[in-house]
Amino acid sequence: MRIVTFGTFDVFHVGHVSILERARSLGTELYVGVSSDELNFSKKDRYPIYSEEDRMHIVSALKSVDFVFLEQSLELKREYLLQYKADALVMGDDWQGKFDEFNDICKVIYLPRTPSVSTTEIIEVVKHVTVKSS
Ligand code: CTP
Repeated sequence: MRIVTFGTFDVFHVGHVSILERARSLGTELYVGVSSDELNFSKKDRYPIYSEEDRMHIVSALKSVDFVFLEQSLELKREYLLQYKADALVMGDDWQGKFDEFNDICKVIYLPRTPSVSTTEIIEVVKHVTVKSS
């Protein structure tokens, strides 16, 4: 059973490892769509700290991950799921309900996020430390 998931995976942290391991354990193969730098800029008005090449390199190095591709548009989710023959789409529950429309082509599963860690929070903490120490 092939699982597909998507994310930015910038400033890679334990919440990322955990969702990828749990996603992989639901099937036999895990494919990960890593969102492109431009897609992140269009969503958040800032580029990720790590480039798309580095983020893909990090994610593809994990034991739990079998294949990585670049997600270039949010509008192409259905096409990616079909192209990569997903049996299930797994997402963190920050997306709860948002991808139910794909239930017609694969199972849609939301997993609980790891509490108290996010890329945004890490960036804020590091900024704060830098400001204090300068
Ligand atoms: N994720 C998770 N637990 C966390 C953080 C992220 O399970 N504590 C999951 C998300 O639900 C998503 C995947 O990891 O399925 C990629 O999330 P991403 O948005 O790249 O990470 P965040 O840390 O949430 O980034 P940001 O703070 O920029 O939103």
